[in-house]
This record gives sequence, C-alpha cells and structure tokens, in this order.
Amino acid sequence: SNYEYIIVARPEPAVALITLNRPKALNALCSPLFAELNKALLEVDADDAIGAVVLTGSEKAFAAGADIKEMKDKEYSDVFKSRFLEDWAALSKTRKPIIAAVSGYALGGGCELALMCDIILASPTAKFGQPEINLGVIPGGGGSQRLAHIIGKSRTMEMVLTGRNISAQEAEKWGMVSRVVSDGEGQVVKEAIEMAKTIASKGQIAVQAGKEVVNAAYELNLAEGLRFERRIFHGLFATKDQKEGMAAFAEKRKPEFTHS
Ligand code: HXC
Repeated sequence: SNYEYIIVARPEPAVALITLNRPKALNALCSPLFAELNKALLEVDADDAIGAVVLTGSEKAFAAGADIKEMKDKEYSDVFKSRFLEDWAALSKTRKPIIAAVSGYALGGGCELALMCDIILASPTAKFGQPEINLGVIPGGGGSQRLAHIIGKSRTMEMVLTGRNISAQEAEKWGMVSRVVSDGEGQVVKEAIEMAKTIASKGQIAVQAGKEVVNAAYELNLAEGLRFERRIFHGLFATKDQKEGMAAFAEKRKPEFTHS
C-alpha cells in the first residue's frame, strides 16, 4: 500500500514491520498519520499469514508526541465534536501482538503509543516522557492510566506533573519496558523482529487468546480476571493446535500448528 507517513514492510513472512516515517517532525502523530496507522493495522490483522507486528520510528524519535502545531488552535468544541484522539483506541483492538521498538524520543502521545503496544523493547537511546504539563495540558492518550498501572502512583505523578523524561534504564527498572537491548543502529528493531518471529511461530489462536487475557488484567478485578482466564483456557481445548501441541510433546517432536 501507499502511505505518506508510515512504511509497511514484511521483514519475515509472518512479521509485519510498521515504521513511522515523518522524520521532519520527529514522527509527531498528526491525524493523517494515525489514520494510516489504523488502516495498516486493520490490514495486518486481517492477513492470516501475519502473526505479529513490530512498530518503530527512527533512531532519533519513536514519536515526539501528538502534533502540537495541529492541536494548538483547537477549541473545546472542535476536539469534542471531532472526537479528537478517540480513533487511537483502534490500535488496542488489534488482535495480533504489537511490539514497540523504541529508539530516541517517545514523548507524550509517543510514549502513550508505545504503552498501547503489547511489549516494549528499548534501545539505550530511548527517552520516555509525558511533557504535556509544559504545554498546559495533561496526557490524553491513556498515559496517566497506563503508567499508573505499570509504574505506580509516585513515579507516574512525577512524570505527569514535572514532565521529566526518563532514560531507557529507568524505564527498564520501573517495568515499563521488557528490556534495553545492546547498543547499535537498528539493533532494537532487529531484536523486536526476532521476538515477533518467535511469537508468530506459535499457534495463533493461543497467542491471540494470551494477549486478550493479559490485557484483561488491566481492566478486570482479580476474581473476574482469573475466571476469564480459566474460561479462555478451557476454550482452547476446542482447537486443533491444543491437540497438536500436546501430542507433539508426548511424542517428543516439534508441533506443527495450523492455527485452527
Ligand atoms: C509538532 C513537532 C513535535 C510535536 C517535534 N516537532 N515534536 N512538531 N508536534 N510534538 C518538530 C519541531 O517543531 C521541529 O520542526 C522538528 O520537529 C524537529 O524538532 P526540534 O525541536 O527542532 O528537535 P530537537 O531540538 O532535537 O528537540 C527534540 C524534542 C523537541 C525535545 C523532542 O522536539 C520537543 O520537545 N518536542 C515536543 C515534545 C512534546 O511536548 N510532546 C508532547 C506533545 S503533546 P521545525 O519545523 O521547527 O523543524 C501530546 C499530547 C498527547 O503528545 C495527547 C494524547 C495523544
């Protein structure tokens, strides 16, 4: 497909790589960029051959936030009536796992975009922050809520109220990212593609069920979450992949999942 603000590639047969490509504005997330991202994710989700997605930006910036120049003259009635930012939620409806490979700035909406993904890998250059307070606003893409769940109240308050950026190392220590990869251009994308390839090699019904139940931990209370997990687990006994996976173990061979 032809996009202006993103590049969609297929580094592995079962892996889609979406690169934010608005370098002059450090990948500021203007509305057309988000529309393209949503369209690409819908296509990826509908493509049975793709098992996982990597989302990345440039070496300098994953994304420097929502587009401030686009937002600056908007009135309350404009943002209300146009349902400003509501379409961001489409990303979290994607069934396939999305791995964010973050180098450089992930600020404001850029940090929130990374947090909407399922797994975050950071390069040592990554800088995460919610600098909206410096613009007279607050996070609007889920940052205050997702961060509070992940890194706790005090750290979230500090980020949201001071606007300070945190380093990749801090983000790792605070549990925001899975890990900081080793130095080197493109390294974080390489490792994210490897991880995506591993995920794509599993039974895709189980993978997507796994994503769904983990996400439920952020929405349901513990009793509801445990019940939901158990029911989804029970449901997987209706799949061929469960029969194949367990038979392969018993027969000491590699499973051949058919995603059915
Ligand atoms: C629009 C942006 C932008 C943004 C950078 N640019 N961030 N344009 N919106 N969020 C543009 C700059 O205006 C500039 O354009 C070009 O990108 C390069 O940026 P510089 O500032 O010259 O680069 P540098 O000096 O290296 O500084 C990098 C930076 C800084 C520290 C990341 O750009 C910065 O502070 N950006 C804003 C970060 C921010 O506040 N993000 C939160 C946005 S609010 P020109 O034309 O001058 O070359 C937000 C709300 C979320 O995200 C709400 C829910 C989604």
